[in-house]
Amino acid sequence: MTQPHRLFFALWPDSELRDRLATLAREARRHCGGRATPPEKLHLTLAFLGETSTAQAEALAATTRIVRVEPGTWRLDRGGHFRGGGIAWLGGEEGAESLTVLHRRLATLAEDAGLPAMPDRPFHPHVTLRRRAKAPPDAWPGVTLDWHYRQVALVESAQQHGEHRYRTLAMSVTSTG
Ligand code: 2AM
Repeated sequence: MTQPHRLFFALWPDSELRDRLATLAREARRHCGGRATPPEKLHLTLAFLGETSTAQAEALAATTRIVRVEPGTWRLDRGGHFRGGGIAWLGGEEGAESLTVLHRRLATLAEDAGLPAMPDRPFHPHVTLRRRAKAPPDAWPGVTLDWHYRQVALVESAQQHGEHRYRTLAMSVTSTG
């Protein structure tokens, strides 16, 4: 039997945004404690698909390559906390509605590829900056970052030596505009 593949759709920051997110993740230590997300793992999960077979992963990769994403901007200007896992995150309202639309579209695409329907839970777009962390103060981060996106990635999370490694399986069409 082949190994299952743990997949998710995500937005990956370009190197400039990644560096700024990594700086915020590092600086948040004094407010929140915990452990920073390594810079190369900073991302926004658009849809968590869970475990799939190799055939489903291949079908999803092929579909991802023909997806065209409407370019958009998500404004990151507020912090928050999920108590389970102690996740200190960065997010924002401006541009979040388009991400929710994208989330629904990708969930439908996964269902069309034969995956079980996703749990009907609200989607809270966020970038996990630190884990096992406390809540950041209300005034944090006090800066604004704009995330300009035009492509989604289909990513595999594989456990290796006790930690999750991410590998991009496919990218959507490069949109212009
Ligand atoms: P996170 O964004 O809050 O860190 C790969 O594991 C990605 O999928 C991570 O970004 C993680 O959340 C998210 N993820 C993991 N398990 C999940 C689940 N059961 N539901 C939704 N997202 C999940």
